[in-house]
Amino acid sequence: MLTCTGAESVENAIKIARQATKRQGIICFTDAFHGRTMMAMTLTAKPAYKLNCGPFAPETYRFRFPNHFRYGRGLSYDDFVGREIELLRESLMATLDPYNCAAIIVETVQGEGGFIPMPKAYMRELRNICDEFGILLILDEVQSGFGRTGEWAAFHHYDVTPDLSTWAKSMGGGMPIGCVIGKAEIMDAVSPGTIGGTYPGNPVCAAAALANIGYMKEIDINALARKVGETCRIRFEALREKCPEIGEVRGLGAMVAFPLVKESDPFKPDSTLCHDLMLACADRGLILLSAGTHKKCHTCFVSISDYRRAT
Ligand SMILES: Cc1ncc(COP(=O)(O)O)c(C=O)c1O
Repeated sequence: MLTCTGAESVENAIKIARQATKRQGIICFTDAFHGRTMMAMTLTAKPAYKLNCGPFAPETYRFRFPNHFRYGRGLSYDDFVGREIELLRESLMATLDPYNCAAIIVETVQGEGGFIPMPKAYMRELRNICDEFGILLILDEVQSGFGRTGEWAAFHHYDVTPDLSTWAKSMGGGMPIGCVIGKAEIMDAVSPGTIGGTYPGNPVCAAAALANIGYMKEIDINALARKVGETCRIRFEALREKCPEIGEVRGLGAMVAFPLVKESDPFKPDSTLCHDLMLACADRGLILLSAGTHKKCHTCFVSISDYRRAT
């Protein structure tokens, strides 16, 4: 299904999931960003994006995203993920009737939340839970899709296939186009007239997306993203040796970021330092993008022409 924005893709994925399952409950995650329409904003976590916009949509439940840096507290990555998986099942049973849950929606790599890839074992468990209870797994690829992580979908790094996925941003290279991709039997369960609009699939944006996707193939955007990611990671790690404020270096492909914190404490975000660093870099001609609930993560924002220069 074609759409015009990422939020519209999310909105429609939820409607499709509800119609296909005839259930209502939707599970989303902390630090999530899914857009600014009413359902997408409900699923978005950060309060600053939602001020005075409520009441929000009912039948939505928020679980904790497995963020090792913030919640790991001395546990190895694997031990932490194991514990979070136990918490996930416990939260599911304690919060809602899983047989009235239509979908779990999650970003494969959290974008606005601070570039945090979903741990692989956790993603597998999400798939298992969905299969066990007939819940649909929706992966939001609006930010991570089309080459950002070195694959066409970030979920191609995982051994999991979603039932539905949402796309936009890089798909149109700046033109307003997105889509929902899903298994045929799920997409076909939708009643006529319940999804759609005037502009989805308009010929100008469709032509732009086709040309853009062709160009991304031509320049092998995935190989470039992997190279940019490696370069950023090496340089960020070197920076970390000198700057104790950098809590960790994390990400997937070209989605690489580091959180800035005080006293190495993940619960003490240093938003002032983040702000100052952005201004100092802007003065020197480098555009950075900040992310995270407390605006404490730096991500390098690289355009395609910069990819060329960086590689
Ligand atoms: C993961 C994710 N989903 C949805 C959206 C919403 O997309 P749009 O701004 O095109 O509505 C965004 C935008 O940043 C996003 O990062």
